[in-house]
Amino acid sequence: MKRYHDTVNKRSRLIDAPMISSTTTALEAFDPKTLKFRIASALRVQNDYFPCFDWTFPPPITQKSRTPVDAAGLFAETSVVHGRYSIYAHIPFCATLCQFCYYPVIPGSHEEEMQRYVDYLLREMALYAPALAHGRCESVYIGGGTPTYLGNRLLQKLLEGIHRHFKLSEDAEISIESAPGTIPPERIALLAGLGVNRLSYGIQSLDSDMLARLNRAYSVPEAIVEIGNAVEVIGNVNVDTMYGFETEADDALAGTLGKLIGLGVPGLSIYSLDSQRCDHDRVRFLPARDELHERKLGIFRHAKRFLRQQGYEPVLQNIFIRPERASFRHQLRRWENVPLVALGISSMGYAPRVLYQNHLALKSYYRSLDEGRLPVLETERITPEMEMARELVSQLRFTKVDVRNINAKYGVDVRAIFGDLISALFELGYLEVSTETLCLAEKAAPYNNIIPMLFAPDAFKQTLFDLPEEYREHFPLPYVLTQVGATQSLPTGL
Ligand SMILES: C[S@@+](CC[C@H](N)C(=O)[O-])C[C@H]1O[C@@H](n2cnc3c(N)ncnc32)[C@H](O)[C@@H]1O
Ligand code: SF4
Repeated sequence: MKRYHDTVNKRSRLIDAPMISSTTTALEAFDPKTLKFRIASALRVQNDYFPCFDWTFPPPITQKSRTPVDAAGLFAETSVVHGRYSIYAHIPFCATLCQFCYYPVIPGSHEEEMQRYVDYLLREMALYAPALAHGRCESVYIGGGTPTYLGNRLLQKLLEGIHRHFKLSEDAEISIESAPGTIPPERIALLAGLGVNRLSYGIQSLDSDMLARLNRAYSVPEAIVEIGNAVEVIGNVNVDTMYGFETEADDALAGTLGKLIGLGVPGLSIYSLDSQRCDHDRVRFLPARDELHERKLGIFRHAKRFLRQQGYEPVLQNIFIRPERASFRHQLRRWENVPLVALGISSMGYAPRVLYQNHLALKSYYRSLDEGRLPVLETERITPEMEMARELVSQLRFTKVDVRNINAKYGVDVRAIFGDLISALFELGYLEVSTETLCLAEKAAPYNNIIPMLFAPDAFKQTLFDLPEEYREHFPLPYVLTQVGATQSLPTGL
């Protein structure tokens, strides 16, 4: 049998094991009178999914198709945001593997291997280009791994390939991720010359003691010089920081954020250490989740308050920017159902109403392209109602729901469809409601991956009964969704 964490990338533990009362496989019918009570009872779970944006809707728990696809077929349907798309390119290479990292990376790669990978990325782009010839690419995100580890020649080849194969809109945001030691001044100048206008730099901490324990091969002064140079040349710089390590001092994150603010960094991301998915042997940090749970929430609350006082606005739950000096468009567009072309191993893409993911290993990725096929491993087609929910649910988790926009874009009435759910969550203190927006309240922080899912269509929740029973009973997301039962006051009409 598939293990739960093979299908879901987070797992949590029940702290107050509820009674599993029924063996029925039908979703509990909608009952506005008991909805609030059912939500309150089902949420007696320990959920340690802290703010981070590695999250998808629908959650990766249902069956996917492995039928081969081509670009024309993938992009044949009309998108809800006609003519627009974005690109994500995954570069899996890094100098070394950090102990905490859960990303698909290949540490210490040689030049020939990276050269080969970039050549295949260009072949992949060529397969997509004809299907996208009439659209405009609004943002490119080159992520990893550490894309800037590629070196000048390959970075130039990669970016020129993107410009050659796709029509980028004039104000396209082009972001690249980097890590200390990989952006000497001439590389930053090269990237800027190739149109890169946003740099996301992974620093994690400016605390020397902490860095020494993270297997990150650089010194704090070196990183400070690189950050300063990037801020000067590119301006629109984001720095990733992390918190929640077992040995971390309570004020370590605040100290790091203070130094970065002093350096004029306009974008700051704060990630809670997620050790659950780092199950490779090299991981030494295995915090007792329950002990750190409250502490992590406290560190995050404190950091959030501090950043707001310093003039930073949240653009995603864990990402803060100085609005006039930083942009953060790419990730936000993901939640608007803008098609996303996925390039490179393990990349996840979105064609109109089709979620897809590329092959995870280099060998199968190369093989597909050698055979002239897109290296897509699996696809999941979703209904129009699930697409609407994808925008609504993701916006609720990461930013806030613009109700009027969803209504106009999908021809629905969110307040009528989910009127009772909105009232119940509001009365329980989990939701802030204004005339135009819905937003998770502070109290919802421990359940920020679950509560938004209550806005998934009832038809989807019903499919969760197809999961093996142990998953539904012991893991928070399917457990809560099936225990709460139907949450729609009315059909969506889609
Ligand atoms: C794809 S990584 C790339 C950044 C860059 N290579 C670097 O050195 O940080 C993006 C970010 O994910 C975060 N991250 C990596 N592993 C994590 C984990 N186990 N838990 C939480 N966040 C993590 C880190 O903040 C990292 O900067
Ligand atoms: S944190 Fe960055 S440098 Fe470290 S292994 Fe992950 S992607 Fe590579």
